[in-house]
Amino acid sequence: MAKKTLITSGKGGVGKSTITVLLGFFLTILGKKVIILDLDFGISSVEELLKELEPVFNLGDILTGNCSVEAAINSSRYKKLDFIAAAKNYKINIQNNQLQQIIKSLEGYDFILLDSPAGLNLDECINGETIDDALIVANPEKLCLTGARNISRLLEERGITKRYLIINKFNSKVWKKNNLENLDVVIDFVAAQLIAIIPFMENLEVVSYDFEKLISYKKFYKALFNLANRYLGANVKLLFK
Ligand SMILES: Nc1ncnc2c1ncn2[C@@H]1O[C@H](COP(=O)(O)OP(=O)(O)OP(=O)(O)O)[C@@H](O)[C@H]1O
Ligand SMILES: [Mg+2]
Repeated sequence: MAKKTLITSGKGGVGKSTITVLLGFFLTILGKKVIILDLDFGISSVEELLKELEPVFNLGDILTGNCSVEAAINSSRYKKLDFIAAAKNYKINIQNNQLQQIIKSLEGYDFILLDSPAGLNLDECINGETIDDALIVANPEKLCLTGARNISRLLEERGITKRYLIINKFNSKVWKKNNLENLDVVIDFVAAQLIAIIPFMENLEVVSYDFEKLISYKKFYKALFNLANRYLGANVKLLFK
């Protein structure tokens, strides 16, 4: 059965969608079959990040009975990485049993990555029954980490016990400037297991047309590769420099 992972954050713009597609890509490098479900209604982040055209059908069409789940599945330019685009109408609501039904019909995948909008207004359907674990993305700023702690608490209340923290857009100077030196304090504060520290990458837009090119950006590539490996349970060291 596929592992269902929510990618979330307390604050917007921290890199959830970027991490979702890149984690998906790196999991495929490691031989896994992945599908991304874009839950950010009204915005088309996932297809844009994958540089795909707007699909004919999206999650909104599934939810309103306009198409089957199968018809809304799109393959991407990356082998073994599929996606279902977000509903374009932000007024559409998703019911608990609808999400469960959709997830149930996604057969043959190892991972279902659910890219969510930022903030605490999570749909009721995001709970321990529908989701196996959550990746909480935060940038190295106090406000962002406070947002991460708040979302972590909410997920805990919803019965999602496996919660991992990803610190994205990491820069050691900024980290020190923001008085965040003690990593253990940060981890305790957010109440999630630190799974990755992803560096700030200046040229992200340049490589976004071809993730294979990421290999030239060693630090960034390694951080994502390690994230995917750690996520699969490997005992890989965290990069913290
Ligand atoms: N590690 C990184 N280094 C540099 N820029 C990054 C990094 N990760 C993400 N970004 C940039 O940050 C911006 C926001 O990223 P993204 O859209 O993935 O965030 P998000 O959390 O999904 O936003 P939203 O809350 O609106 O859904 C984008 O311009 C993206 O290229
Ligand atoms: Mg996003």
